Amino acid sequence: MEADLIERKTAMHQNKELYQDLDRILLTKDEIAAKIRELGQQITKDYQGKKPVLVCILKGASVFFADLIREIDLPLTLDFMAISSYGSATKTSGVVRILKDLDNDILGKDVIIVEDIVDSGITLSYLKKILMQRGAGSLKIAALLDKPARRKVKDLRVDYMCFDIPDAFVVGYGLDYDQTYRNLPDIGILSPRIYEK
Ligand code: IMP
Ligand code: MG
Repeated sequence: MEADLIERKTAMHQNKELYQDLDRILLTKDEIAAKIRELGQQITKDYQGKKPVLVCILKGASVFFADLIREIDLPLTLDFMAISSYGSATKTSGVVRILKDLDNDILGKDVIIVEDIVDSGITLSYLKKILMQRGAGSLKIAALLDKPARRKVKDLRVDYMCFDIPDAFVVGYGLDYDQTYRNLPDIGILSPRIYEK
């Protein structure tokens, strides 16, 4: 499996600039797409008869969000939020600030927060708290990636999770390092030489 992934990278991407900075590819775009299709079907089933509001957490979740909403067969609506957690480029500090708030009221609505990755869990537990305070009728979390080894908030419940990944810094499919690599179609482990410079 491991060798296979390295080979896929070598064969398909050796001439592409962004891929040079990856140690290896962790999840290919096809693996991601298959999982998101399943998740879309599950959400469609769970929210039958409802009209959920899907909230994209900018910017990291944008690519996942765009793919996920098209796999959900419900009359849903969209909203966007941007938050920043102070800290270094590869670690959160725990202090979260809202940069862009939701456009619409969520009072009584069935809200699904769509996030790229759960690391310490601090960002999501903060978001969950403030959206509940605003009177959401129900609130669930959908995340693409989980790094369980790094969780600090132990009681954070993530309702829909696509992939557990090892404790490594990953980029691609919306995830960045220093705002770069978001447009990689696959998810890969960034070579530490890039951020240990
Ligand atoms: P948490 O508050 O520690 O759970 O941090 C979650 C946020 O940290 C995510 O929304 C990402 O923006 C960022 N993050 C955590 N791990 C990674 C990673 O491996 N690659 C890119 N961003 C990450
Ligand atoms: Mg983020």
